[in-house]
Amino acid sequence: MASARESLHGEWSSKIAFIMAASGAAIGLGNIWKFPYITGANGGGAFVMIYILCVLLMGIPIMMAEILLGRHGRRNPATTFAILAEEGKHAKHWYWAGFIGILSGFLILSYYSVIAGWGCDYIFHAAMGKFSNATANDIQRIFNTMVSNPWTLLLWHTLVISATTFVVALGLETGLEKSISFMFPTMIVLLLIVVAYAMTTGHFIEGLTFLFKPDFHKLSANGALIALGHSFFTLSLATGTMMVYGAYLPKNISITQAALSIAIADSSVALLAGMGIFPIVFAHHLEPQAGPGLIFKTLPLAFGNMPFGNLIATFFFIMLTFAAFTSAISLLEPSVAFVMEKFHLQRATACMLCGSIIWFLGIGTILSFNILQDFKLFSLTFFELLDYLTANIMLPTGGLLISIFAVWVLRKEISAKELNLDPQNKFFVAWQQTLRFVSPLAILLVTLDFLGVY
Ligand code: PHE
Repeated sequence: MASARESLHGEWSSKIAFIMAASGAAIGLGNIWKFPYITGANGGGAFVMIYILCVLLMGIPIMMAEILLGRHGRRNPATTFAILAEEGKHAKHWYWAGFIGILSGFLILSYYSVIAGWGCDYIFHAAMGKFSNATANDIQRIFNTMVSNPWTLLLWHTLVISATTFVVALGLETGLEKSISFMFPTMIVLLLIVVAYAMTTGHFIEGLTFLFKPDFHKLSANGALIALGHSFFTLSLATGTMMVYGAYLPKNISITQAALSIAIADSSVALLAGMGIFPIVFAHHLEPQAGPGLIFKTLPLAFGNMPFGNLIATFFFIMLTFAAFTSAISLLEPSVAFVMEKFHLQRATACMLCGSIIWFLGIGTILSFNILQDFKLFSLTFFELLDYLTANIMLPTGGLLISIFAVWVLRKEISAKELNLDPQNKFFVAWQQTLRFVSPLAILLVTLDFLGVY
């Protein structure tokens, strides 16, 4: 029953190559930049608890579903949905479920690259020793000067998009394996250094309490939706990423094991970042609700006050940029695979086409931090709107469609075979039931709560 289709774009050389690439896709700005600031903005503990529950109950099962759909279909996500639906005698319109995913990744990359640019800018501030003994006000000024200058942001955004397009055009994702295997442990060590510093601030326990002690009065319905959306965002789900990476996955690799390792690695990085950042926030009387600038205003304070701080800071922002880069690559790949297959274009041409449109869209995000910061729709700036639409609406919708597809459309024998399990196996049954009931119900509950239905 396993698919006899071959991948159109090559295969990963080994299990490790796949796990590295998929972890590289998952670990990025979502863990180090986004998780702390949305946690800060949504009251801490209760938000973190919902996020962890979502990763366990939805994230991991949906990731397994995506990878297996990708490996069975072996085409770009939209076509994969369409062929698998047809094989199961269902409507070809499932194509659009894949298409929404591809579009989400495309839109996310347009702002993701701008934020990755902030990381690049900070490499230079760090290397020039700007953080040494700086006060919270000094750092605030550095951050504000950076975001208020559209040309600085445009320069970095252009560099990030060009580099991403270039690497995807050369099809080098596999070649990044070694760098990612270096990045992950290094990032953990750097974050541990920040956490060790956080322990010396005298506010460590306060930080941990904020992060881990749930107080549900502080969590709004909107906060719960953001936690749900973030569990998809951080695991790179519902954007076609895990599907295309799955499409390049050789048959003999265990999807379950891969999904578990990726989710564990991803969550550890996010929680470590939170444990490092909040004590610094409290020690310097900063606002946990500082928004997207949070880590850029807090981490430099830690680096500026530790031995070898300039060196460690430089290294940290290089690693952050690299982590963002491996995610950016994975955000571009689904659109490129789609455009190549749909319009019969060469990889390089498809990359140029997608890269240019994404670059152009990114200008909207750049301007929303300066010239157009007061230009709002639904009281959100362009960047906030794009982030909200993708992470909190499109990704959960995509996740819901993937869950439904994997258990109601794809035949059980196929998924069991792809997961290398017997259809009667307890673990397999639990996986199916989770996708059948738990994930759709949870997504529905959070959405209804958000809509104020109860
Ligand atoms: N998971 C990445 C991060 O946390 C972002 C991403 C989302 C990458 C969706 C690919 C697809 O930074």
